[in-house]
Amino acid sequence: SPKACIFDLDGVIVDTVPAHYTAWKAMADEVGVAFDEKENENLKGVSRFDSMKHILSLGNIEKTDEEIQAFTEKKNAIYVDIISSMTPADILPGVVEFIDKLKANGIAIAIGSASKNTPTILKCVGLEKVFKVIVDGNQITNSKPDPEVFLKGAAQLGVEPKECVVLEDAISGVKAAKSGGMKCIGVGHPDVLSEADIVVNDLTNVDIDFLKALYSNEEL
Ligand code: BG6
Ligand code: MG
Repeated sequence: SPKACIFDLDGVIVDTVPAHYTAWKAMADEVGVAFDEKENENLKGVSRFDSMKHILSLGNIEKTDEEIQAFTEKKNAIYVDIISSMTPADILPGVVEFIDKLKANGIAIAIGSASKNTPTILKCVGLEKVFKVIVDGNQITNSKPDPEVFLKGAAQLGVEPKECVVLEDAISGVKAAKSGGMKCIGVGHPDVLSEADIVVNDLTNVDIDFLKALYSNEEL
């Protein structure tokens, strides 16, 4: 079995996807760009700044870096306001049980997220003491699909990339895990996350045997 699991946060551990969508939709409306949930798939895992740049590019709109920065601050204020009322009830199905199984089997865990709000979110849902390694948007320079966030996580856990399984709901995150040499379980829809090794709806049926099956033809 693998030595570690690295979890994306937004959309894998906590249900923050609707809050991100609502806040980005407000920014898209403000600049007059059509934006829907399908387009939102392209923003998952992507940093705040690059997300705003993406929205502007959809409308061929030019803005200065300072203007883009101001939009991201506005977006984040809307987003933080929504997530500040989150509780442990917003942890996604199967997450707590899966983490318990990993701990019981000596498989290390880490967070690998693009979000600078990671510490706030973990606190809101009561998971702030659960992960000994947390790599988030405050510590990385290259956004997913660059593998930096996951490679840093593996290094801090003291394991090889190939010994890690990444859990991801974003197209960019799956690409990051695969280009980092890791296994990847996509959490979401198989049509969207086609580059993952396997795709699940949520973590309810993911267990140690499921992880082992990812390595069925390999020596670890
Ligand atoms: C990712 C989300 O986890 O973090 C993206 O999927 C988000 O939607 C990115 O833009 C950055 O998050 P934050 O909280 O720093 O704005
Ligand atoms: Mg995500």
